Order: sequence, then C-alpha cells, then structure tokens
Amino acid sequence: MVDAPQKNIAIELIDVERSFGRQQVLKKVNLAVEEGTTTVIVGASGQGKSVILKHMLGLLKPDRGQVLVYGQDLAKLRKSQLKEVRKDYGVLFQNVALFDSMNVFDNVALPLRERTDASEAEIRANVEEKLALMDLEGVNEKYPAQLSGGMKKRVGLARALVMNPRIVFFDEPTTGLDVSKSNEIYRLFHKTQARLKYTAVIVSHDVPKIFKLADHVALISDGVIEGCMSPEEFQLSDNPTIRTFVRETMGPIYCSEEEERFIHEEA
Ligand SMILES: Nc1ncnc2c1ncn2[C@@H]1O[C@H](COP(=O)(O)OP(=O)(O)OP(=O)(O)O)[C@@H](O)[C@H]1O
Ligand SMILES: [Mg+2]
Repeated sequence: MVDAPQKNIAIELIDVERSFGRQQVLKKVNLAVEEGTTTVIVGASGQGKSVILKHMLGLLKPDRGQVLVYGQDLAKLRKSQLKEVRKDYGVLFQNVALFDSMNVFDNVALPLRERTDASEAEIRANVEEKLALMDLEGVNEKYPAQLSGGMKKRVGLARALVMNPRIVFFDEPTTGLDVSKSNEIYRLFHKTQARLKYTAVIVSHDVPKIFKLADHVALISDGVIEGCMSPEEFQLSDNPTIRTFVRETMGPIYCSEEEERFIHEEA
C-alpha cells in the first residue's frame, strides 16, 4: 500500500474560543490551512471572519485553545519570536491603508526599508518586480490620491508580497470594486500565487467567484467552522448550515466561461 502524501500544515486553529465582553464570537474553531494552498473563509457579516484572521496574525489571543503556525503556539512566543513569524506574512486588509504622503514606489518599498537591510538597488529590483507582476508599470512616482480604486488595491497587493511571504492573508481584497476590477484582482492573484507559491488565507464575500481560486472553503457560522473542503464538495454538501449558506448566497452557480478564462489566464 502506498502512503498518502504528507500534507504540511502551515496554520492550525485548535478549539479556539474567543469572547468580547459577553459575546462569544468563536466557540470552538478548528481549522487547518495546508501549505501552498488557498483557503477561503466565508460567512455572514459579523460571524468572526476578521477575528479569525487576527488570531492567525497574533493580533488577538484566544481565551482557550491554540493557534499554531508551523507548529509553534503563537500565544507562547515572545514578542521578538512573534515578529520573526510575522516576517513570513503578507497582509492585505479590508481597507488598504496606503500612506498618502508617499508615492507608489515608497509605499511598496516600506516593509523592506523597515524590516530588512536590503540595499537601495535590491529594493528597487524587488519593488519593480512586484509592481510589474501587478501590471503597474510607470506609476512609481504617483501618489495614492492619483490612483483609481483598482490600482490602489494592486499597490496594496504588491506591498503585501514584497517581502516574498510564505503566507498571505487577504481580508476582502476586492471591497468597493466593480465586477471587472474584482476579476482583475483575482486574475493577478492567481498569477502571482502560481509564481510565488505562497499559502493564502482569504476572507471574501465574492461567492461563488472566489471559489475559482479556492482549494478549500471554510464556513464560519455561529462560532464554529462548518467544513473545510473543496469548493465542489462545499457546493454539494449536505451539511444543513452549508446548504443554507450556498442557497442564500450563491443562487445559481454561474461564472461565464469568458470570466473563467480571464481569471486563469497566464497562471
Ligand atoms: N476588538 C473587538 N472588540 C469587541 N468586539 C469585537 C472586536 N472585534 C470584533 N468584535 C465583534 O466580533 C464579531 C465578529 O467580528 P468580525 O469583524 O470578525 O466579523 P466579520 O465576519 O469579519 O464580518 P464582516 O463580513 O462584516 O467583515 C462582531 O460582532 C464584532 O462586533
Ligand atoms: Mg471582516
């Protein structure tokens, strides 16, 4: 008998509980994120998606349970050790916070300048590589106020990737964008993941479109994770909570062939 290939787990939440005052947001969250894959967390507003990401980032600590990153319990790490773990992270949050007083180049270069000893020449090569990946050439000198919403997101994405992270966290990466701009972000995302091979955890409302990028889909509902399975299994699941979510949010499962080709182009 041949053994199944070993799956490396990048992040694992084990029986994580977290309350704010009397409101218990996470009741017993169990979730394993496999290395090199994209896990999409879905769920209604206010269910705790961002709270889960903040636990993975070590910005919030569980009341009970554990958050393991490559086997290390974040709650047990010293500040300096946590900083080391976060060096491997790339983060793009709901509302991209670019610094208005810095141009595009300096915004993307910031993590390198703050956290590495890279020379200016190395910084320039790295930043320009990431901007090119995001189809952002010739905008180095522009300031955020001079960019469209979609361009700002792409600059945010370039900055999230500039440290060549092992794990990226995206919380609603397409908030505020129209359909074609969202598709553009997903196409770039698909392309960069194929190139840079990071592990991704994405929170998104773009259901079912985001399923095209997902290896695993996890639904948070009433403080627990319902399933962490392939998008196909998710859509056909007979778990009543998942079925209700699928019915209410997805309607007929449809993504035109045109859109699908677009998202997967160049990967
Ligand atoms: N720092 C905090 N202090 C108090 N309550 C909080 C805090 N952070 C989150 N909450 C509460 O926890 C619940 C889950 O919040 P969270 O931001 O994770 O929701 P979400 O699933 O990301 O929703 P959305 O889709 O709207 O972004 C909410 O009721 C929120 O008010
Ligand atoms: Mg949120």
